Amino acid sequence: MKVLVVGGGGREHALCWKIAQSPLVDTLYCAPGNPGIAELAECVHIGADEIDALLDFAQAEEIGLTVVGPEVPLTMGIVDRFQAVGLEIFGPNQAAAQIEGSKGFSKDLMARHNIPTAAYQSFTERDAAVAYVRQQGAPIVVKADGLAAGKGVIVAMTEEQAIAGIDNIMLHKVFGSAGASVVIEEFMAGEEASFFAFTDGKNILPLASSQDHKRVYDQDEGPNTGGMGAYSPAPVVTPELHDEIVATIVKPTVDGMAADGHPYVGILYVGLMIKDGTPRVVEYNARFGDPEAQPLLMRMKSDIVPVLQACARGALADSVIEWHDKAAVCVVMASGGYPAAFEKGLPISGLEAAAKIEDLMVFHAGTTLKDAVVVNNGGRVLGVTGLGDTVASAIDKAYSGVAQIRWAGVHVRTDIGQKALNR
Ligand code: AMP
Ligand code: GLY
Repeated sequence: MKVLVVGGGGREHALCWKIAQSPLVDTLYCAPGNPGIAELAECVHIGADEIDALLDFAQAEEIGLTVVGPEVPLTMGIVDRFQAVGLEIFGPNQAAAQIEGSKGFSKDLMARHNIPTAAYQSFTERDAAVAYVRQQGAPIVVKADGLAAGKGVIVAMTEEQAIAGIDNIMLHKVFGSAGASVVIEEFMAGEEASFFAFTDGKNILPLASSQDHKRVYDQDEGPNTGGMGAYSPAPVVTPELHDEIVATIVKPTVDGMAADGHPYVGILYVGLMIKDGTPRVVEYNARFGDPEAQPLLMRMKSDIVPVLQACARGALADSVIEWHDKAAVCVVMASGGYPAAFEKGLPISGLEAAAKIEDLMVFHAGTTLKDAVVVNNGGRVLGVTGLGDTVASAIDKAYSGVAQIRWAGVHVRTDIGQKALNR
């Protein structure tokens, strides 16, 4: 079978790495891919949001399964378009992808189906939003309604910060139309975890636990990023908590989406806040996490392709996933300055040396080739992911890879995985 992966980041490199190992796959394509992915798949020069061109390619090549990495094509309706011409594709359709695409949609879903989350209200008028902040007081959280590449959330410690956030979103329109309305919600304290489950719209197959490190600097300081590193398993998610998350959050979400007339098919990503052993939803995403996919997929023992097909076919009931009894840690190597402005095109050294290390994968995220040399081309550049018998040895493994790799200005957190050791 021919498989097409859509996207070109670290998550898609990890997906390609895993899918390429499947005996069901003869040819693997990735659009647009990146230089790391090019070692495993044939990269196609089509952007992840060029739905017409992707569709033409998939029809011409008779692609047997398309796997969508990022959220933007999902919210644009890539799944509906492929299904309309009879092509098999893994991911939620446009209606279901609103679970990530609209904060108001997801908050209403949770309210309707009694899924635990922060109290909230939605506003389309700036003055009403400001009045609500004044009434509720700080800390408080302001969110642009639509997709804002992970930057549309302001965790405000003062009322003034919250109001400045509202003004940026609603008056200065820094996120464009994503800011036509805002969600204002209760600040939740606690520890975050990422929970993933495959679903065919009815049946649920949870993945192993994982945790992301969102802040740019050590000790969780500095601004939020797309994620500076991740590990799996995450000890904060005890077996009891795992069952509670499935029962009180994942199942009501999947059942609620079906009851509301837009069943959710694909991988459901629930961002959780855990306080005193009780989980609440921070947000949903309609896709794998990046960088959580990197450690999760390295730990997955089973072939992923039959699971992706079972989701797309509504036949997940009998699927199981086996996991390697190992820990995995992904350390993100970022461009200096990220998540603000940074210089691109800087040559990266040490990739060959790192590639020789056993139980280590260097997943490419923001790289490109310049005169046949790999250079940085994005904020998050590489996801160096190590396996180990324990979290501690996986941390050592990942940082042994990081130590080989250099470019001008590279930024790396030095404490990825420590949270797991501290428990
Ligand atoms: P989101 O885009 O909704 O995932 O939000 C990005 C980040 O903002 C989350 O990962 C949290 O760290 C933080 N955040 C979002 N909502 C809340 C909340 N209600 N309380 C505390 N932190 C939040
Ligand atoms: N790691 C956060 C995300 O994928 O949104």
